[in-house]
Amino acid sequence: MSCIAILTAVLALCASGGAVDIAVKSTGGKKISEMPYGLMHEDINNAGDGGLYAELIRNRAFSGSDVYPSNLDGWSAVNGASLSLKNLSNPLSSAIPTSINVAVSQNSTSVGNIGFANDGFWGMNVVRQEYKGSFYVKGEYDGDFVASLKSALTNDTFGSVKVKANCKTNEWTQHKFTLVPNKNAPNSNNTFTLTFSPKGLPSGSASLDFNLISLFPPTYKGRENGLRKDIAETLATLQPKFLRFPGGNALEGPNITHPWQWNETIGDLKDRPGRPGVWNYQTSDGFGLVEYLNWATDMELVLVLGIHSGLAMDGHWVNETDLQPWIDSALDEIEFIRGDVSTPWGKRRAELGYPEPWELKFVEIGNEDWLAGKEPGFDSYKEYRFPRFREAIASKYPDIQLIASPSIFDKMTIPAPVAGDYHPYRQPNNFYNEFHKFDNLTADNLTLVGEFSSVHPNGGIDWNGTLHPYPWWIGGVGEAIFMISTERNGDRILGSTYAPILRNMNRWQWSICMLEFDASKVTLSTSYYIFKLISTHPITHNLPTTPSTNTSSLFWVAGKNGNQDGLVFKAANYNTTDHQPTPVKLSFEELDKGAKAELTLLTTSEGPYGYNDPAIGNNVVVTTRKVLTADSEGAFNFEIPELSVAVLDTGRDYGKYLHA
Ligand SMILES: *[C@@H]1O[C@H](CO)[C@@H](O)[C@H](O)[C@H]1NC(C)=O
Ligand SMILES: *[C@@H]1O[C@H](CO)[C@@H](O)[C@H](O)[C@H]1NC(C)=O
Ligand SMILES: *[C@@H]1O[C@H](CO)[C@@H](O)[C@H](O)[C@H]1NC(C)=O
Ligand SMILES: *[C@@H]1O[C@H](CO)[C@@H](O)[C@H](O)[C@H]1NC(C)=O
Ligand SMILES: *[C@@H]1O[C@H](CO)[C@@H](O)[C@H](O)[C@H]1NC(C)=O
Ligand SMILES: *[C@@H]1O[C@H](CO)[C@@H](O)[C@H](O)[C@H]1NC(C)=O
Ligand SMILES: *[C@@H]1O[C@H](CO)[C@@H](O)[C@H](O)[C@H]1NC(C)=O
Ligand SMILES: *[C@@H]1O[C@H](CO)[C@@H](O)[C@H](O)[C@H]1NC(C)=O
Ligand SMILES: *[C@@H]1O[C@H](CO)[C@@H](O)[C@H](O)[C@H]1NC(C)=O
Ligand SMILES: *[C@@H]1O[C@H](CO)[C@@H](O)[C@H](O)[C@H]1NC(C)=O
Ligand SMILES: *[C@@H]1O[C@H](CO)[C@@H](O)[C@H](O)[C@H]1NC(C)=O
Ligand SMILES: *[C@@H]1O[C@H](CO)[C@@H](O)[C@H](O)[C@H]1NC(C)=O
Repeated sequence: MSCIAILTAVLALCASGGAVDIAVKSTGGKKISEMPYGLMHEDINNAGDGGLYAELIRNRAFSGSDVYPSNLDGWSAVNGASLSLKNLSNPLSSAIPTSINVAVSQNSTSVGNIGFANDGFWGMNVVRQEYKGSFYVKGEYDGDFVASLKSALTNDTFGSVKVKANCKTNEWTQHKFTLVPNKNAPNSNNTFTLTFSPKGLPSGSASLDFNLISLFPPTYKGRENGLRKDIAETLATLQPKFLRFPGGNALEGPNITHPWQWNETIGDLKDRPGRPGVWNYQTSDGFGLVEYLNWATDMELVLVLGIHSGLAMDGHWVNETDLQPWIDSALDEIEFIRGDVSTPWGKRRAELGYPEPWELKFVEIGNEDWLAGKEPGFDSYKEYRFPRFREAIASKYPDIQLIASPSIFDKMTIPAPVAGDYHPYRQPNNFYNEFHKFDNLTADNLTLVGEFSSVHPNGGIDWNGTLHPYPWWIGGVGEAIFMISTERNGDRILGSTYAPILRNMNRWQWSICMLEFDASKVTLSTSYYIFKLISTHPITHNLPTTPSTNTSSLFWVAGKNGNQDGLVFKAANYNTTDHQPTPVKLSFEELDKGAKAELTLLTTSEGPYGYNDPAIGNNVVVTTRKVLTADSEGAFNFEIPELSVAVLDTGRDYGKYLHA
């Protein structure tokens, strides 16, 4: 009797006892994508400015647009100074033409400095660490500037530094400083102030002009102009493999006049005009193309670059006769990223300090081209926008895997080898019902899941109503079922990423995000825990199982982790009969009795609607880990409760327990 036959007999017996018997074969199956899970980022919910971008000063360059005019948001006077916006005849740069004039007024006391204060992106985290600041000033002044971090509530000063002036009458001069607070602020209700002594002004002059006032805490991996450490480090715990950027809708821009213009997001910060975003605020573009690329370098992420395809959020698209400049711009962008220094844009990159090209293998043509322009806009994509971009990029860069922004589930026939991009924002029951959605994809139907999440409760209000207020437990279990469905088809699913990931609790447009944050803390949602458990136990080659597919509640995938030489089983249990846990008897054909594996179970004590509330700081996710030993038949026996997610991983030691 072969092992298989014995196993089958055992399976039959146990099945009658109510356990789900799952046998994992040692051969067969498929090698799956090396980038199964990644990150998607765009500036929504102040996820960029005021979020992952570590800049602490809000409205640092008074940049405006015809959509969001320049203003003094975030700024207030210190000691009665009079603050006004000015478009000087000799601005700091043509990109940021508007500056702030800080003048003595009749309200200023005759003693003491005058100046201005910034309240940050709804506060500032002030702790004993090194802050790096800079500002430009124009006008004659002899004396010191004083840069301070203070409480907005008590005026308590946490740290202060004098910056010796080096000013000229008609020239902008940059001043840099380092500020180390001598104590931690008790909360994030703090401001940054910059002041000067009116006594240092020449007679007849009563003001100075300032622009590009900037302050950074230590950043992720110490990058200049880099990422906020706590948020970036949390993202890194997901062990993501790719980065899809810069959108999302942010790529499209509010209208055709205002696309995400890559060439205006590079170079010195004073040369970046900023842009009206699509999510109701102006963005600085301080977090520009190179910052995205550095992020990918620092987290070892494969680039999935979205290029503008000539469709804007207001539903307008570029007609065929006008398309060529848009194609040229995309080709330039690709050249900037991966071109040799002998190419014009490769040379420009080298001038910015990056002679080494980045590796760019994935380019997505547009974002959701089936959506904003309705039928006719989508037709323009199918008829000429997609084919023209495709032809231009594929002929110049044949090694690039192109991705069309719709998927084959969006009524588009996508010509191989181009992949599609599928964005399911669903109810958990949808993910349950559509577990087999990817099973019929052919090798010619490569699909990226560039965005996904549970957003509406079951049977709920759908797109006409509001989103659920936070990621919630059963939503996460639905996402786990979905993730398992992608891994089972991981030879045709390029990779998947939750979206959006970040939500600033002080200003947001989309409530369902993996992480919520404010000026000083990051909250991990239920979906974060589930995504992390699944993404940090990678399978590189999946293995067939019997039964091959799910039961009415239990969904699974099994395979090998070729990187670590282990065996992995992942499962999600949805609604069970009478809410009872599901007993599982799991055996791996290649493992003998006595084999060991760690089982991690995520459950909740709070029911399907439990969620992690940033205002409370609770965690409804219950994590249990235990090491299991295979029984005399070589099987691991355990229970998976209703609405829970489980991962069993043999780790590296499994080689000790192989069949002789
Ligand atoms: C884009 O929007 C701005 C602000 O509403 C407007 O000034 C501009 O004309 C618009 N451009 C197009 C092409 O609609
Ligand atoms: C002086 O203070 C008064 C009262 O707060 C205010 O109304 C006025 O605008 C201030 N003037 C200047 C020049 O700031
Ligand atoms: C200053 O320039 C900005 C940007 O060019 C423009 O939107 C704004 O209206 C100008 N403001 C003034 C006071 O002229
Ligand atoms: C700071 O405190 C003020 C006054 O209590 C309050 O209005 C404001 O909302 C607080 N800001 C933050 C970021 O907590
Ligand atoms: C903080 O300082 C400002 C300006 O100097 C003053 O108007 C305010 O009353 C002070 N607040 C407290 C709580 O001392
Ligand atoms: C960026 O590229 C666009 C489109 O190619 C062009 O219109 C614009 O002038 C460029 N901006 C800069 C600053 O070169
Ligand atoms: C394309 O658009 C431009 C500007 O919007 C317009 O001048 C031109 O006539 C359009 N061409 C066609 C063929 O519609
Ligand atoms: C999926 O791939 C097959 C070829 O294997 C192709 O015939 C079919 O058109 C593709 N589906 C779509 C919707 O593109
Ligand atoms: C996959 O193909 C099978 C066989 O043709 C069919 O029964 C099933 O409905 C298809 N599933 C999906 C999700 O399209
Ligand atoms: C949402 O509203 C649109 C139009 O207002 C309607 O056609 C559609 O049926 C509604 N969908 C649902 C799920 O209620
Ligand atoms: C597998 O799950 C689907 C829902 O995705 C369900 O319709 C089907 O009945 C399940 N299969 C078994 C054998 O229970
Ligand atoms: C699962 O149970 C939830 C309530 O916890 C319910 O909303 C949902 O419709 C059920 N789904 C299925 C497929 O039975």
